[in-house]
Amino acid sequence: MTDIIADLVIHNGKIVSPDSVIEASIAIKDGQVLAIGAASAMPSATETFDASGLHLLPGAIDDHVHFRDPGYPHKEDWESGTAAAAFGGVTCVFDMPNTIPPTGTKEVLAAKHAIAASKAHVDFGLYGLLGDDTIAHVPDLIEGGVIGFKLYMGNTFGKIPSPDTGATLECFEVAAATGKRVSLHAENNDIMERRQKRLMAAGKKDQWAHLAARPNVVAVEAVSRAATLAEWTGARIHVLHISTAEELRPLREAKARGVDITGETCPHYLMLSTDDYDRVPGVIAVNPPVREAVNQELIWQALLDGAIDVIATDHAPHTPEEKTRKDIWTVDCGFPGVETQMPLMLTAVNAGRLSISDYVRISAYNPARIWGLYPRKGALQPGSDADIAIVDLSRDHIIRDAEIQSRSKISPWDGRPVKGVPVHTLVRGRFVMKDRKLVAGTKGWGQSVHAIQAMPEPTVRNAEHSMQAIVGRQS
Ligand code: NCD
Ligand code: ZN
Repeated sequence: MTDIIADLVIHNGKIVSPDSVIEASIAIKDGQVLAIGAASAMPSATETFDASGLHLLPGAIDDHVHFRDPGYPHKEDWESGTAAAAFGGVTCVFDMPNTIPPTGTKEVLAAKHAIAASKAHVDFGLYGLLGDDTIAHVPDLIEGGVIGFKLYMGNTFGKIPSPDTGATLECFEVAAATGKRVSLHAENNDIMERRQKRLMAAGKKDQWAHLAARPNVVAVEAVSRAATLAEWTGARIHVLHISTAEELRPLREAKARGVDITGETCPHYLMLSTDDYDRVPGVIAVNPPVREAVNQELIWQALLDGAIDVIATDHAPHTPEEKTRKDIWTVDCGFPGVETQMPLMLTAVNAGRLSISDYVRISAYNPARIWGLYPRKGALQPGSDADIAIVDLSRDHIIRDAEIQSRSKISPWDGRPVKGVPVHTLVRGRFVMKDRKLVAGTKGWGQSVHAIQAMPEPTVRNAEHSMQAIVGRQS
């Protein structure tokens, strides 16, 4: 190694992987990890950095954010959203397609890629919208570079139409042949619509009415149906924002049958419950809803035993005015989260709820694996991108909405004490956040990761029964 000069060597940190924590130095060159080992074994470097007392984690990969750009600049844009990510130790985000216009054509996708590339501080992937109107666009969207697809089984913010079961089956048939994963908003639309209509007619409009329109069965029915269709077609699916204990049964059963189904939950389903409704009504409104506390323990267990693969955030920024309307049916659902996920989860690490290695597994390693980015992303080992969250596990902090980077200064986390905070974030070897400050000149450093994605070969089933086989593809 004597001839090689690294760009940066970070000394004295504790480097965390899903199965180890080792005190070592890490050398970085050309944006990638060059070597990990004893300080004396490191090459010389242009710059060195002392991480004494700190942990080095592979940067979190948040596969569920809404950065609202283009379409809703008053809520968020790629610059503010990725600044929030950088402060949260998140080095890669996947952005949802419910922007304006929805990301359902190659032109709209290309425009969003250009916007994101010009403003992002961290790396990103873009979802393509999969629904009745976009089935025929799948090849174009793949060519344009989507990380995967998003299918809204139930209606939510942005009023994207939900495909019926027939259309969903056809969507899965088409997606299966591509090998790309389909993320699902798994809530049954018919049940919610009917109940909401009746609740509105009965004059119910508080936070509890929102939950009453979306009882647990809304989610468990959708997950079960999606698992059935995925098993039939061979489609790879990812169940977003698991909020109930009941969803775990169809998820576990489908996994046991060999269905390529993965699951995600978010900090609000682990740490908030209906006990918080009267404290922050409207603010806490999110789809699916934060539910009764009894769900929390079982969701934690599923995260630790591997039934749920990923912790993400559903970062869904809105303004205070949009979150505090008196009539719940007019409140915009969701709240920011990309910046607070890591401190909240590190607080749980400090409390002994999970280990720091468990956390790396669900925040970085698993998302990288299931989205075909491993080992370029989701790991700190030679050849990996040097995407690093450097965290101080002993730092106390209080989350304040007014201080977060997101344009949305309203969340149910305001005032919450945390212990464990990202203090520096690197994306491909470059500091984008240092000492809790955004690093100047890093706007536009983020890149789309679709180019390095390598999903396993597709595993199509029942192709002879597909819509394409029986009548040809919809035009
Ligand atoms: C999301 C949003 O605001 O875009 N809102 C939410 O309540 N989760 C939409 C979504 O992901 O369901
Ligand atoms: Zn959703």
